Amino acid sequence: TFKERIFSGAQPTGNLHLGNYLGALKRWVALQDEKECIYCVVDMHALTILPDPAELLSSTRELTAAYLAAGLDPKKSIVFNQSRVRQHAELAWVFNCIARVGWMNRMTQFKDKAGKDRENASLGLLAYPSLMAADVLLYRATHVPVGDDQKQHLELTRDIAQKFNNDYSDRIASLGIGVEMAVGDETVSGFFPLTEPMISGPAMRIMSLRDGTKKMSKSDPSDLSRINLIDDEETITKKIRKAKTDADAIPSEVEGLEGRPEADNLIGIFAALTNTDKAAVLRDFGGKQFSEFKASLAELAVAQLSPITQEMRRLVNDPAYIDGVLRDGGERASVIAEETMHNVRDIVGF
Ligand code: ADP
Ligand code: NA
Repeated sequence: TFKERIFSGAQPTGNLHLGNYLGALKRWVALQDEKECIYCVVDMHALTILPDPAELLSSTRELTAAYLAAGLDPKKSIVFNQSRVRQHAELAWVFNCIARVGWMNRMTQFKDKAGKDRENASLGLLAYPSLMAADVLLYRATHVPVGDDQKQHLELTRDIAQKFNNDYSDRIASLGIGVEMAVGDETVSGFFPLTEPMISGPAMRIMSLRDGTKKMSKSDPSDLSRINLIDDEETITKKIRKAKTDADAIPSEVEGLEGRPEADNLIGIFAALTNTDKAAVLRDFGGKQFSEFKASLAELAVAQLSPITQEMRRLVNDPAYIDGVLRDGGERASVIAEETMHNVRDIVGF
C-alpha cells in the first residue's frame, strides 16, 4: 500500500479569511506532528487570473507568511511554492491527455468562475483541476485536508489517477512499479493512489456572516461577510457583532440549529476555534441570547487570530527569510517530485 502522505495548498490571491483558516490552515497545522505533510502555495493556479507579476510574487510571500504565522513549521513539513518545482507542469500535461474535456466542463467551480462567457475563459481555468491532480499525485499523497468546496476537484483527482492506472496497467506491471491498494473489497495495483479528501468537522464549510446560505469567500463583494486574517481587533469584533442572526435564543441541542443557517454557522465557528463540536458549544450557550454569545465569540476570535496577524506582519518584513523557506522546501519537494516523474516518463514512453 501507499505510504501515508498529506498534501494541500492555497492560491496566493487576495487575503486569507476565517474560512481558509478554519477549513484548511488550522487543520494543516494539527496534522504536521503525526504525519508527513507537504504544504504548497499554488502560484501557478493564480496565473489563471493573470495577476500583476510583481503582485504575484508579493502575494506568494504573504501567503507563505500566513502559513508560517498560523503554525506550519518548515522543519516538520515541506513548505514551498508550486512554480519552483517544474514537475507540477510536466505531470499536469500528462494528465491533460488522460482527463476528458467533459470532466472539466462539469466542474461547478469552473462554471462559477468562467461566468456566462465560457468560450472566452482561459484554457488554464478549464484545466485547473488537472493541474490540481498533478499537485497532489506528484507526491503520491494519500490524503488532502480541504474545505467542502474542493470535494468535486478531489473526486476528479481520483478519476484521473484511476484512468492513468488503467490506461497504463500493462506498462506499470511490466516495469514492476505498481503498488497494491484496496479499492472497495478488491485489491488492485496501480502507480497513483486514489487520494482521499479529509473533509470533516465543524469547519468544513464556513458560511458568510451576512448570508448563511453562501460560503465565506474572498470574492464576496461585502467585506462584512468575512473575517480576514489581517483584520484588526476592532474590525473582527464589529463584524461578529453585525453578523446576521435570527431573533430566537440559542438552542440546547444540535437539532435546534436546523433551518437556522446563520446560527448554525456562528456555533460552528466557535466549535472550530475551540477544537470541540457544536453540541459542546450548545451545552455552554443553550438558552442564551446571540448578543451574549457574539461577545464571547469575538473575544475568542481576536485571541486566536491577533497573534497570527502580528507574526504575519513581522514575517512579511523579512522576505529573505520567507524566500529561504521556499527555496529549501522547493528542494525537498523536488526530490520526491523527480522520483515520481522519472517513473511517469518511463510509463508513458518518454
Ligand atoms: P477561496 O475559496 O476563498 O477562493 P481557496 O480556493 O484558495 O480560497 O481555498 C483555500 C482553502 O480554504 C481550500 O482548502 C478551501 O477548501 C478552503 N476554504 C475556502 N473557503 C472556505 C470556507 N468558506 N469554509 C471552509 N473552508 C474553506
Ligand atoms: Na475555494
